Amino acid sequence: MGTDTGTGAVTARRAASAPDSAPEPSTAAAPAPGLYDQAGRQINCLRLSVTERCGFGCIYCTGGRSHGCRRDDLPLEEILTLARGAALAGCTRIRLTGGEPLERVDLPEIIRGLAELPGITSLGLTTNGCRLAAAARELADAGIRDVNVSLDSADPGVLRQITGRSCLDQILAGIEAALEAGCRVKINTVLLKGLNDDPGSIHDLADLIFRHPLDLRFIELMPADREDFSHERYFAPAEAVFRALPGLVPAEDESQNAPARNYVLKGARGRIGIISPVTRKFCRTCNRIRITADGMLRPCLLSRREFPLRGLTSEEVAKIIRDAVSCKPREHRLTAGCGGSSGQSMPGGRRPDRIRDNNDRHLSRGSAGSGGCNVTARQSVNRNGCGNGNESGNRIRNGTDNEPAGSPDDSSVRLAMGRIGG
Ligand code: 5AD
Ligand code: SF4
Repeated sequence: MGTDTGTGAVTARRAASAPDSAPEPSTAAAPAPGLYDQAGRQINCLRLSVTERCGFGCIYCTGGRSHGCRRDDLPLEEILTLARGAALAGCTRIRLTGGEPLERVDLPEIIRGLAELPGITSLGLTTNGCRLAAAARELADAGIRDVNVSLDSADPGVLRQITGRSCLDQILAGIEAALEAGCRVKINTVLLKGLNDDPGSIHDLADLIFRHPLDLRFIELMPADREDFSHERYFAPAEAVFRALPGLVPAEDESQNAPARNYVLKGARGRIGIISPVTRKFCRTCNRIRITADGMLRPCLLSRREFPLRGLTSEEVAKIIRDAVSCKPREHRLTAGCGGSSGQSMPGGRRPDRIRDNNDRHLSRGSAGSGGCNVTARQSVNRNGCGNGNESGNRIRNGTDNEPAGSPDDSSVRLAMGRIGG
């Protein structure tokens, strides 16, 4: 973060680890003082998907099939151009998502490039944890401070049922490696009825916050209308956690607006978070936008509305972001019902399938007309896979980000879907 004037956490790390290799401060235009939407929310957090690929096949994400991508990932330079544009527009924080970001061999290079961007003060990563053990130190040295790891069960057999992979030991090693590398770690667990919502499963996961200084967040399953996955069958209410852990006490700094309701357990080294993206939405304090793995801007993580950014200069990207943020929906209108026909993309933007969001019905009609928005939008409608979209007008697309829109990331938020996930 070359000329960064913020808290400079990443800068500090880089200064400590590689003082001689730090590039000259950028001569690019200074970032704008702040990016605000029409609801007065400051938008400072970019969720940046670097690939759609993932070796896992989580049942709620892919229906159990791991997902490769027929379309190439954006090259490093293009990613940096988009991120530089976001920084120019006023974003100060970037969270890297996927698919699985560690599928990219050039991830450390991407992080180093992002860490040098003026104005960027915080870099986080959301990962399935499978390859984290070997990479954690290098990622931390490159500038990652926060790591969110998806872990839906502490039972290897159940985890395999959910993810399609035998990976518990690797994920646990990854978590330890990230902690040893000095990262703040959060674990995301999606509650799934009959798989991990029983007291024994919740206790086993909660045991991690007694053994390690990390937070564990339980996320209510977000609705997706897909033929190969039944939301009704797997949805488990957050009450399962309160029943299993009656000793939970609200954390003192608990904010009514944060995506996660945070709790402490006596003797634990970290906290328990509860995230209910749909039934207890936190749109009012949403601070996020998303850029998908194929270079589309989504002002709301839970809306299909998106704006193409590829091929633009950073300055042009910044302008589109400012304009698009001006028409960011005040809140999502996801409902827990399935079977909607509007084609909402998944909260994290990935494997979207169809989530019902009534906002989308009155938003984008080709060009973004509502809310004073003067940039051209496309409506993503359930693109199947990576490369079969209709590139003109309303194209068919699947999501590109594995995170639930609302999962909280730390000081503020995450997946609400906008602020969930990772
Ligand atoms: N519901 C809730 N959370 C989800 N995630 C992905 N899909 C969903 C969903 N349908 C979250 C999980 C996962 C992270 C990448 O995104 O926490 O670990
Ligand atoms: Fe991969 Fe994450 Fe989707 Fe699981 S939820 S299949 S780890 S992208």
